[in-house]
Amino acid sequence: MFKTRITEMLGIEYPIICGGMQYVSNAELVAAVSNAGGMGILAVGNFGSKEELRDEIRKIKTLTDKPFGVNVTFMPTLRIIDREGLIDTAIEEGASAIETSGRITEAHVQRIKKGKVKHIHKVARLRDARTAERLGVDAVAIVGFECGGAPPMDEITTFIQVPLVADAVNLPVIAGGGIGDARGFVAALALGADGVVMGTRFMITKESLVHQNVKDAVIRAKETDTVPVLRSLRSMERVFKNEVARKVIEMENRGATLDELVPLISGDKVRASWEKGDINSAILPCGQVIGLINEVPTVKEVIDDMVSGAEDILNRLTRMIRAG
Ligand SMILES: Cc1cc2nc3c(=O)[nH]c(=O)nc-3n(C[C@H](O)[C@H](O)[C@H](O)COP(=O)(O)O)c2cc1C
Repeated sequence: MFKTRITEMLGIEYPIICGGMQYVSNAELVAAVSNAGGMGILAVGNFGSKEELRDEIRKIKTLTDKPFGVNVTFMPTLRIIDREGLIDTAIEEGASAIETSGRITEAHVQRIKKGKVKHIHKVARLRDARTAERLGVDAVAIVGFECGGAPPMDEITTFIQVPLVADAVNLPVIAGGGIGDARGFVAALALGADGVVMGTRFMITKESLVHQNVKDAVIRAKETDTVPVLRSLRSMERVFKNEVARKVIEMENRGATLDELVPLISGDKVRASWEKGDINSAILPCGQVIGLINEVPTVKEVIDDMVSGAEDILNRLTRMIRAG
């Protein structure tokens, strides 16, 4: 039903990807997305060793025989052990794609190419998309300011980023940031993307490990309830607007150093918060799309609704155009 350069490249039914989410993407979520016809991506930030990553990938393989990916982030503020070793492990264990983000080098691109898996590099700036193409990646994902995780420092939104990148590179383009339903999906394709990457929407699903308190808080939340933090470290993250986020911003405004901020932003606190449901004890990445999220569906329901909704939207648009 769907055929784009991304479905062809990744061997998946729908061009819908769940981006790697540190502490949130686990085998169950990844497999659920892949089983529903999209591509799930595990995040290596969850693991303290190659063996832990290997075990989780093996678990994915017991849950699905569909293609899945592994995310390796090069964001400087995320503490990750031996990224190259983790890439090798993901390739050895049969990942179909590696999604990288942050600053990668030609050596990383070559390493992934040698493993004969597809390389998606996620960027937040037009110029980084061009660099990724020059380095030889297979596809580029571009995210806008709305996104959960790492938005662009220059605050350019998805609506502007996607057509700019689609015009600038010959590679397949994946759009991310603020997409949560069929409308965002069709809009992204209309802007020139070959597929979409979503994080926040998949985080608020039945299969997601995040605590019910977090899911309830997101459902209650409005589009204004996220805020970018860590701008002062040039490693910006969009997070839930809670007490910790407010404190981090206040400290940044006072010129706090990374060392001073670490106790508030530590990954252990984030993980504990997702799992235990205390929404005021850590910075919790999520995107503005929380304003559009009103329920906790299954992953399959999210994907099926996007696909069937896309058809309805196209019919509506066709009628509108023909009526003119
Ligand atoms: C909780 C959470 C954790 C994330 N962790 C990572 C990560 O480890 N590596 C990465 O490249 N992107 C990460 N992201 C970004 C997502 O993969 C994806 O690009 C983003 O969520 C898309 O924007 P959306 O949230 O508006 O859908 C994270 C996003 C969220 C919400």
